[in-house]
Amino acid sequence: MGDLLRRILEERQGQFVSGQEIGNRLGVSRAAVWKRVESLRSRGFGIEGARGAGYRLVSSPDVIDESELLARLVRPTFWKSFLVYSATDSTNSRAVEQAEKGAPDGTVVCADAQSSGRGRFGRRWESPPGLNLYLSMLLRPPIEPHLAPQLTLVTAIALAKAVESAAGIPTGLKWPNDLYLGGRKAAGILAEMSADQDRLRHVVIGAGLNVNADSVDFPEELRDKATSLRISAGRSFRRVEVLALFLDAFADCFDQFLSGGFEALHHEWSSRSFLDGKRVVLRHRDEDVEGTVMGVDENGALLFRRHGAVRAERLHSGEIVTFAR
Ligand code: BTN
Repeated sequence: MGDLLRRILEERQGQFVSGQEIGNRLGVSRAAVWKRVESLRSRGFGIEGARGAGYRLVSSPDVIDESELLARLVRPTFWKSFLVYSATDSTNSRAVEQAEKGAPDGTVVCADAQSSGRGRFGRRWESPPGLNLYLSMLLRPPIEPHLAPQLTLVTAIALAKAVESAAGIPTGLKWPNDLYLGGRKAAGILAEMSADQDRLRHVVIGAGLNVNADSVDFPEELRDKATSLRISAGRSFRRVEVLALFLDAFADCFDQFLSGGFEALHHEWSSRSFLDGKRVVLRHRDEDVEGTVMGVDENGALLFRRHGAVRAERLHSGEIVTFAR
């Protein structure tokens, strides 16, 4: 109840709409209009009422609402289905479940909170309610399975573009799946795929982006490592706005990837890769190796020169565990 009233108030962009006009459009009495206003207020909408003038919308709650998301998307038809949860264990788990039930390519699963948000290497992803974005995309791209890991890098580029347009701040990418703002991690990506020998069945790409979290919202041990758009930009954001920017950026990057391979996006990665030329410790096959990041190649592999080596090697897996900020 209240979605039509909401649309009427939104149409007027903060101007008053008389109770009489609302009543006529909804086909209800003025007393019933008042009841619907109260119901919207209880859902977090700020509605001012003035005798003689009517009602006007002054603020909307920061929730992921499918119709608002669709209205904000430049490329809504790229996405075929949206599932929005107020809470779930993990959006990746929900998306995998959807994939197994035959959900279409271009399905998006979002949640306001996750009780068991998963990170890489079995880590936990902090997912408190009301603050951040937790989403998973189900894709069925016509690519060979060995190319699927490149989609993690494609997603990181799209996240970077969304953050740059929403907040106007520079972003940094850390191979293969992290987005950094001011030397601290703001987002991570977890891709899970299902494939037969030479056919990719589906890939689920989950992204967690800290949007409005403040440092006190992170557990103590993460406070000097993690950040959010709000901490970095000094203001808060409507999550649905950032989500729409991300989904549009992803649709564009994905199309470029399908037509030109990762090579077509290589410059987008390299211009944001903040560890190039830096000494790091890389965890590779359970071993910690010191060396220098030399960039990524046109297939998205890390170019890494071990300490003392002359040439860089191309690595397809691993994690940079230590670096100078
Ligand atoms: C990492 O940096 O280790 C990856 C973090 C990925 C977190 C996201 S939040 C949405 C999706 N659902 C999950 O359970 N994980 C991913």
